[in-house]
Amino acid sequence: MSAQPAADGIALFAHIGGAATIDRLVEVFYARMDSLPEAATIRALHPADLGPVKEVLKRYLGEWLGGPPLYSAERGHPRLRQRHLGFPIGAAERDAWLLCMRGALDETVADTAAREAIYERMAGLADWMRNRDGNPHDTGGARP
Ligand code: HEM
Repeated sequence: MSAQPAADGIALFAHIGGAATIDRLVEVFYARMDSLPEAATIRALHPADLGPVKEVLKRYLGEWLGGPPLYSAERGHPRLRQRHLGFPIGAAERDAWLLCMRGALDETVADTAAREAIYERMAGLADWMRNRDGNPHDTGGARP
């Protein structure tokens, strides 16, 4: 995905502290997924060893926020929704994912405006990832 400039024109990636901040963000995110009772269902969708998926998410989020394109260099176009189709994701799973991310952002991204901008965009992405509960993306464009 392309770089996402912050309102002041500085890419969010650099603005929040680059790869070091993304590393902490992803570590805290998965630590929360590993321990919060609300996240137990989505934790169970992941492999026992979170090491590999942590590395992938670090590369993905770095690129998504305007850092070096390490994810697509390795995996090609993200096609993230397609990659998640094998996992049942409804509103409850989306909310559990966002609960983990909300706390991780609060803990690791100091700048309030940047933190809120990132959260807003992630919330949109997590909602779009739903493949249960009648996401309009699953209707093939048909009107209800
Ligand atoms: C909404 C609820 C979500 C659930 C339940 C979920 C769950 C999962 C699961 C189970 C995997 C596979 C782990 C594995 O077997 O290696 C995965 C991979 C991944 N997820 Fe999610 N996810 C969600 C949302 C998101 C969002 C919003 C993002 C991005 C901001 C994201 C980014 C990724 C990435 C980058 C991968 C690795 C993809 C690859 O293999 O290339 N996920 N997710």
